[in-house]
Amino acid sequence: MTIIDELATLEQEAMEALGAADSLDRLAEWKSKYTGKSGAVTRLSRGLGALPADQRPEAGRRVNTLREQLDAAYAEAEERLKGAVLASELAADRIDVSMPGRRPEVGFLHLTTQVLRQVQEIFAEMGFQVWESSEVELDEYNFSLLNFADDHPARDMQDTFYVEMPEGAPAVLLRTHTSPGQIHAMRRYAPEPVRVLLPGKVYRNEQVTVRSEMMFHQFEFLAVGQNITMGDLKGTLGYFAERMFGPGTRVRLRPSFFPFTEPSAEMDVSCFLCDGKGCRICKYAGWLEIGGCGMVHPNVLRAGGYDPDTVSGFAGGFGPERIALLKYGINDIRLFYSGDAAFVQQFG
Ligand code: DAH
Repeated sequence: MTIIDELATLEQEAMEALGAADSLDRLAEWKSKYTGKSGAVTRLSRGLGALPADQRPEAGRRVNTLREQLDAAYAEAEERLKGAVLASELAADRIDVSMPGRRPEVGFLHLTTQVLRQVQEIFAEMGFQVWESSEVELDEYNFSLLNFADDHPARDMQDTFYVEMPEGAPAVLLRTHTSPGQIHAMRRYAPEPVRVLLPGKVYRNEQVTVRSEMMFHQFEFLAVGQNITMGDLKGTLGYFAERMFGPGTRVRLRPSFFPFTEPSAEMDVSCFLCDGKGCRICKYAGWLEIGGCGMVHPNVLRAGGYDPDTVSGFAGGFGPERIALLKYGINDIRLFYSGDAAFVQQFG
């Protein structure tokens, strides 16, 4: 086989192999096999010296031409393959602008806070200002000034968390209800009329069950002024009930007893689920018990700095957790403060 024939065979083989090189790796292999330092073309050009002198120039030109042709073909193949690689990388990397973003976790108000805010709004509409008073309270404010007799069972250690105090210091406790705030508010405003809402935490030294927690919330409402009657109490409760539980909700007062009110009552609202017909939520009574209320006892008015002969007042204390339990059909009060995110997030 003459060198010319060899060149023709090599050209054909190299061009076919180049066409079959489908990756940059295979292209690199091709280069070292054909046009690299120890490739076939180099080997052929080294063999030129062994040719008879008259054939050398022609053969040399042909080898050079082949090298140039293969180099050009190589460059073209390299460009094509690099383009393909880039295109596939871009395709793999493509940003899907229709993909939903990752939602950052945003905080929200706890269900109890939501109910309390709603309560505050409703009472604000009736001219009640929000007043806060402390959770750590003097025994005197929690009980005596609210007309609890000295031997009243609510003073029992089992119901109340007392704070350890030095000998001779007045008794201090965690308030068992928001009612002591009544005394603070009255003492601040007497003899002027007052209309306040007192929301906050209260504590009871009780067994924790489905129905009772050691810490829960209450909101107290208090109005003192001239000619305040039970009718004003009922009107206030009626407005509250309709705003809280929906239009058409009716209010019922049942006689009850609290040391700090006379007369005292339990307030029920018509069941907002069955409208009083009777259902599972209201235990077929048609009514839901919301909390206690009444006309402020003369002794309490006096303790607050008012003259019970010239002013009167009404008060009440309800639990926002109880309202939420009823509104959302929750059956276990422990869920509120157990730190169970799945529970609280339902109301986020
Ligand atoms: N303090 C009472 C309790 O915790 C609730 C209450 C009843 C508050 C009647 C009042 C009221 O202001 O008038 O059970």
